[in-house]
Parts: sequence; structure tokens; C-alpha cells
Amino acid sequence: MCGIIGYCGGRAARPLLLDGLKRLEYRGYDSAGLAVADGGRLNVVRAVGKVSDLEKKGIERPLPGHCGIAHTRWATHGRPSEANAHPHLDCRERVAVVHNGIIENYLELKQELQAKGHAFRSETDSEVVAHLIEECFAGDLEKAVRLAVLRLEGTFGLAVMHADAPEQVVAARRGSPIILGLGEGEFFAASDANALLPYTQKVISLNDDEMAVLSPGGYHIKNLNDEFLQKEIEIREGRGEEADKKGFEHYMLKEIFEQPEAIENACRGRLLESEGVSKLGGLEPVLERLKNLKRLVIVSCGTSYYAGLCGRYIFESLCELHVEVEVASEFRYRRLKLDADTAVLALSQSGETADTLAAIREAKRKGALILGVVNVVGSAIAQVTDAGVYNHAGPEFGVASTKIYTSQLVVLTLMALLIGRYQGLSFTEGSAVIQALKRLPRQVKGILTDIEHIKDIAQRYARYQDFLFIGRQHNYPTAMEGALKLKEISYIHAEGYPAGEMKHGPISLIDAEFPTVAIVTQDATADKMLSNIQEIKARNGRVLAVASQGDGRITEVCDDVIRVPETLPILQPVLNIVPLQLFAYFIARSKGRDIDKPRNLAKSVTVE
Ligand code: AGP
Repeated sequence: MCGIIGYCGGRAARPLLLDGLKRLEYRGYDSAGLAVADGGRLNVVRAVGKVSDLEKKGIERPLPGHCGIAHTRWATHGRPSEANAHPHLDCRERVAVVHNGIIENYLELKQELQAKGHAFRSETDSEVVAHLIEECFAGDLEKAVRLAVLRLEGTFGLAVMHADAPEQVVAARRGSPIILGLGEGEFFAASDANALLPYTQKVISLNDDEMAVLSPGGYHIKNLNDEFLQKEIEIREGRGEEADKKGFEHYMLKEIFEQPEAIENACRGRLLESEGVSKLGGLEPVLERLKNLKRLVIVSCGTSYYAGLCGRYIFESLCELHVEVEVASEFRYRRLKLDADTAVLALSQSGETADTLAAIREAKRKGALILGVVNVVGSAIAQVTDAGVYNHAGPEFGVASTKIYTSQLVVLTLMALLIGRYQGLSFTEGSAVIQALKRLPRQVKGILTDIEHIKDIAQRYARYQDFLFIGRQHNYPTAMEGALKLKEISYIHAEGYPAGEMKHGPISLIDAEFPTVAIVTQDATADKMLSNIQEIKARNGRVLAVASQGDGRITEVCDDVIRVPETLPILQPVLNIVPLQLFAYFIARSKGRDIDKPRNLAKSVTVE
């Protein structure tokens, strides 16, 4: 969703801010803006649309200022418009604020400020912060931001400038990430490390209710009690070069092709073959509790939720656990009893998803052990969990998640293997899982070589308006995820269903114009799947099957078939989703969609 970048140093701020914004584009946004200190005033430019539209504005003269803040906005309060784009200004245009998150008490604050004579220009909650800082300002920006922040309820990542302090950027956070980048004589503040990494790998993550003051000469960090804090400097890997598409037309395609490597990275150093078990350093502090775990509740959203649904079958198959999977945004409405024998596991690519974060905070309050599987190192969810495992899959820029989904399935298998070996799983069974995990990267590579066949099929199916995806057991989540991929990026209506549910309603939709994608790889449910396919064919429905390489029967009954290799049933979803990712990709491409940044979607969903 929204993105922030701030800069203070010796170089011209504007090009650096624009470059930072471009590196945040993948998060999803609808407008952008920046403010640069410019000879005793703030030069502010905003534009609806892309960062490239912002770049074209305000270039009549080069801006000399070397301190500035910038923002990409994903509309929450108020439609996408120049007036609603950030930075927001106070009445006298001396204060500029960029904000991620939601100010929950903004109406109350707005009324109070309006009563004091403040005039508002936008429909946003964020503008209230600029006026509040104006109200608190008496010559010291840091103090004014602190006093203002103390009045805010909700979530915020903020970067603030004042025309009277042109060499300062003040940043603050509560519930929305702010990362500082420490260069040589230059300092950055950003909501996402991707914006900083080309300039510095030295970073500091602010915690909630912490503030930082940056200037070209240095930086300091304080808490809201005005006390100085010494924080550890982390060295982040990479220089943001992953943001290069490496010759692929889209990030999504590149990330689909990165899956063999992402699976290898998830397993690297984590397979103890001699013991038939996995080794997960991040879970070692809570190993004793995991050994005796009775119940696991998985919470997540979207694609990560479907990974959680697969996780239920994985944990049930390898462990003696009662497993529940809950959409994170619904978790708080359940009256769940969570005790010390229960772990709540958050799955999140970004580690920033507000619904997932809220769910685990709720679970923590109730005393459960909180675990996480997160891709973004140091992200908010990673900080809240008691223990967890990183995917190490590298950044994912395509809004439609691909490599993290398969990586999540692999990490869940590693976790289940670890717990399962304490709960009765034999060495032989554990070894079989390890061998199957080791074969996966090569098997995924094999599927990727079938790209032309999948592309051809996708082009033939691109004309349909509606799709049904069906699967049973492990492949029921695959059907849901396959449908989500298609609708996200092609804007075609698609529904994922457990195949057995079809005759309880959706079958009434079937006709020659409503095709079905059936995930029917060889397992205990294959015969029942074949019966379901026959039922569709009997109603004139067209069927595309994802089927096992050796299955001769399937060509008799289906119109088109994509073949995948066989693995253990718990890992089969890792292979089965790959052709469906490509299927969605090529349909979206043939329709000319904005595949990496589909309309209305954001990569990190930081509002509830
Ligand atoms: C995936 O294709 C989606 N863009 C979306 O459903 C995503 O998986 C969801 O918002 C959860 O995100 P997270 O994994 O970062 O928590």
C-alpha cells in the first residue's frame, strides 16, 4: 500500500526521492507526491497516477534542496486526487507530512483544529497530522512532532518537514514500519528497505512509539518520553538489484521462474537427513513448547490463507495436532479459548498485513504461543511473534504472490516435520518427506519447461468470462489459489471450490461457456474427482485438467490437460499451482492487463 521515502544529505533530494518512490511502486498506489526544502519554503508537487506522472511535474527548474520527503498513496479516506495525495500541508504551508496507516481519531482532532481556525484542503485522515504539528510547533520540529504523535490514535509511519528547519526530516512510527538508512553523510527514512538498499545496506528499524531526527550531519532516535535510544544497526543483504526484471517481461513471470531457487533457499541448511528431521533455528527457543503442542491455529490472508489451508493437511498428516485455519480478518470475532498448549501461526509474505498483525496481537493477549512464517526480515509480524521461520525467498514484487506461496508450503512442511518427529512420526516417514523436498526444485523446473503448452492453452481459454476451479483434499486450497491468481491479474470471475461441493450449488452454472479447471493429480481422491469431471462433461462444460504425468484416463474425459510430476500428497500442491500461475499470467497478458500492479490491489495490505 502506501510508501514513504525521506532523504537528508549532500545530494539533490528530488531525483533520490523519485528513485525511492519507483522502488516502492510494487506495493500498489494511485497517486504520489514529494516535498523538498527550497530556499526557506517547501516545494511540494503531487500527481494522480504513476510516479512517472509526478516526475513530469515541477521540472521547469532544478530543485537545489537536499532534504525532502515523498509518498505513494493507496486511497483509504478520500478518492485518488491531487488534493488527497501526500505530502499534506498545514495552513501556512510550512509543515509537510507523509503518512502511512490510519489515524482513527482524526474526525475528533479535525473538529478540534477547525474550531481553532485550521482550514483543511483534503478528505484524508492524514492531513490532521500536519495541522496538529502546526498547532504544537514553537520553533522545535522534533518537539512538535512528539507532542502531535502523543495525540494520535491508530497506526502511523510518518515523515515530516518544516520550512523553518529545512535540513531536518523527523520520522515516527506506531504499527506501520519506518526503517532508517545510514549512508556516508546522508540519511534516509523509508517504509520499506527496498527503497534504501541501492544507497546503503546499514539500516535501523524503528519500533512502535519511536522517533528519529535526520539531518545531513547525523541522526538520533528517541522514544515518546523524549529519552535517547541506542539501537542496533543491521546490515541488509543485496543492493536492491532484485528489483531488476532480469529480462523477464514482468516480475510475476520472473518470480514464477524463481520458485526452484526459492524452494532450495527455504530448505538450505534445514534438512537433517541423518535424523529424518528438519532443523529450524528460529524455533529453537520454543522447542520444548512445540514438543507438547496440542493445537495449532493458522491465521493469514489471501494467498497466505490458502497456504494455511494446505498447512492444515500437512500438519495433520505429519503431527498429532488439532489444526484450525482462520482468515485473519475474522479471527477477532471468534470466541476462541487459547491456552499454553496452543500455538497461533501467522503466515505473511510482507510481514506487514494489518489483519494478520491484529489477529496475532489478539492471540498474544489470550496467552497463546505466537509463531510466524514471514518473508520480509525484521517486519512488524516478525517482531511480534515469539519465534518463527523466514522464507528467505528474496523480495517478491509482483502483487500476485507466487514464489512465496510455494515457499510457505515448503516451510510449513519443515515445521510439521520438526514437530511431527516429536509426536510419533517415524524416521522412515521423516526421511521420505526430506527426499521429496529435495526433489521439488527439479520437478518445478520440469513444469516450467512446459511453458509454451500452458501459454497455448491459456490463449484458448482467455475468451471466457467465468471459471470454476475444483480440487479435493490437498488440492482444494490449490483450486482456491488458482482461482485467486486468475481473478487478481486478469479481472476474470473465477471461483475455487472443493469438488464435492459442486453438486450442492455451483453445478447450476455449468454450460459450454463456463469452463472448469480440475486439479486431479493421483491421490486417494482421484477417482472421485473423475466422477465430478464426468458430471461437468455431462452438462456440456469444458474441462482443463492439471493431472499426473502417468495418468492415461484423464485425456479421455477432459478437453485439455497440463501434466505435472508426482510427489507426496502433502507436497503435491507445490507442483500443481505452478501451471495455474502460468495459466493466469498468460490469460492476463493476452488481455493486456497491468500484471505486476493490478488495479485496486496493493502488495502490502497495511489497513484493516
Ligand atoms: C496474493 O496474490 C495477494 N496479493 C494477497 O492475497 C496476499 O497474499 C495477502 O494480502 C496476504 O499478504 P501477506 O502474505 O503479505 O500477509
